[in-house]
Amino acid sequence: MIGDPGDPAEVYDGTTIVLHWLTAILVAIQFLIGRTTGLLPRGALRLDVWSMHVVFGFVLTGVVTLGMVWRARYGRRPPPSNRGALHLAAVTTHRLLDFLLLIMIALGITDVFAHGFPLFNLWHFPKVGGREFVLSVNAWHGWMANILAAVALRHAAAALFHHHVMRNGVLLRMWWR
Ligand code: HEM
Ligand code: HEM
Repeated sequence: MIGDPGDPAEVYDGTTIVLHWLTAILVAIQFLIGRTTGLLPRGALRLDVWSMHVVFGFVLTGVVTLGMVWRARYGRRPPPSNRGALHLAAVTTHRLLDFLLLIMIALGITDVFAHGFPLFNLWHFPKVGGREFVLSVNAWHGWMANILAAVALRHAAAALFHHHVMRNGVLLRMWWR
């Protein structure tokens, strides 16, 4: 049975589960900070919140890298939970999420250097490029954040649909037990 907690082959391993939820929580925090910090008045508080975004961004970089290496080399991958078109849709969404995470990380780190970011006003990253470059990298980072949020919401809705409507164990196999 899909997600049978008594059958180890049917559930993800603990490391994959922890790294998946850490990624999800960090992406949610990053999106929230990214979409609200511009509303704060210019000054020390705003810079500190953006600095937290950069710190969490580097933590996310580590978590995503570890997650991908772990899944590829050591992680347990349960058998497909769907067939045919639904299976294709699930796999496409998962690989798209991986791809968008990597793009967001690359754009975020480029954004740090494009700004010559003053981390907590204590340490300045070296600045690369001019004003046009900052604007364009920042715009791409913002657009890709919206696309990632939309795909992640669709992915979460599919997981909840499996759980509450199809009443199978797809969500449980990515859950702590
Ligand atoms: C999936 C994860 C992430 C999300 C959802 C996200 C989201 C956002 C959003 C929505 C903005 C505002 C863009 C705009 O002005 O239109 C932003 C800005 C920014 N992000 Fe991210 N971000 C993520 C990861 C990262 C990473 C990994 C880094 C670097 C380590 C980073 C560094 C920055 C910087 C430097 C800015 C500009 C701050 C400023 O204007 O002073 N972000 N982010
Ligand atoms: C930004 C947020 C999220 C990201 C980036 C993300 C990413 C991923 C990825 C890449 C996989 C595929 C793992 C593999 O290769 O086998 C996956 C699986 C899964 N995710 Fe997420 N996820 C997020 C949020 C969520 C949320 C909010 C839920 C639940 C409401 C959820 C439930 C699941 C489940 C149940 C699976 C296993 C699906 C299966 O085995 O067919 N995810 N997630």
